Amino acid sequence: MTHDSRPVFAANWKMFKGPRATREFLDEFLVRYQPAVDRRVVFFPPSISVEAFLFAASARPDITVGVQDVHAEGEGAHTGAISASMAVEAGASWSLAGHSERRREFGDDDALVARKVRQILQSGLAPIVCVGETLEEREAGDLTGVLARQVGAVLAAVETAGHADLTWAYEPVWAIGTGRTASPDDAAEAHQIVRSAIATRAGDVTAEQAAILYGGSVKPNNIDSLMEAPGVNGVLVGGASLHAGDFAAICGCRLG
Ligand code: PGA
Repeated sequence: MTHDSRPVFAANWKMFKGPRATREFLDEFLVRYQPAVDRRVVFFPPSISVEAFLFAASARPDITVGVQDVHAEGEGAHTGAISASMAVEAGASWSLAGHSERRREFGDDDALVARKVRQILQSGLAPIVCVGETLEEREAGDLTGVLARQVGAVLAAVETAGHADLTWAYEPVWAIGTGRTASPDDAAEAHQIVRSAIATRAGDVTAEQAAILYGGSVKPNNIDSLMEAPGVNGVLVGGASLHAGDFAAICGCRLG
């Protein structure tokens, strides 16, 4: 895979927007956000809305689509799950892995996240691996330990050749959906910790080139300062990505 260093603006819709709401969103978003060659825009709708998304956005190859989760197995008797290869067949080109809501609600621990990332890479999807500490972990002084453990578990499970294909998202759990954003300084510090953890297992070049997105209450009014923070290579946006106007403003932010 050739290295693409353009910043990523990613929308994680979580369990919002079926096919109809997806079409309505795009009617507005595609008018408000015009293609820009200096950035990448990726949407993670619920998988049941991927087809409607791709159809409605078919005139906009600058926008790509991913799924929010895949099963760690290629196929099998796993009611309710989807596989990475099915996501590819449906037109997805990315998948999230390890989102804190998956870790908390569905038991996706480090080992399972690592297996999912392997499946994602094998199928040819591009993974965005989410890491981040809880408030208790941060207050206990565990920031570095938690991030190093989460990053290390994935890198240890993935073949060296795949290390450069990983995109990361630093998402402090206390900032997700809370309206509390990490300050640009906090984000810069945590991104540096993630980058050092990548360097330890994958080497300096891979670490330097790795895209690390920030996620957690990103809004139109804080996007500029977050994107200016050293080592922030894009954003993963939940709540604000559900509003076409807000997410168009985020994706259209000025880049330094
Ligand atoms: P939020 O979610 O923007 O609503 O905080 C971010 C995420 O969970 O990826």
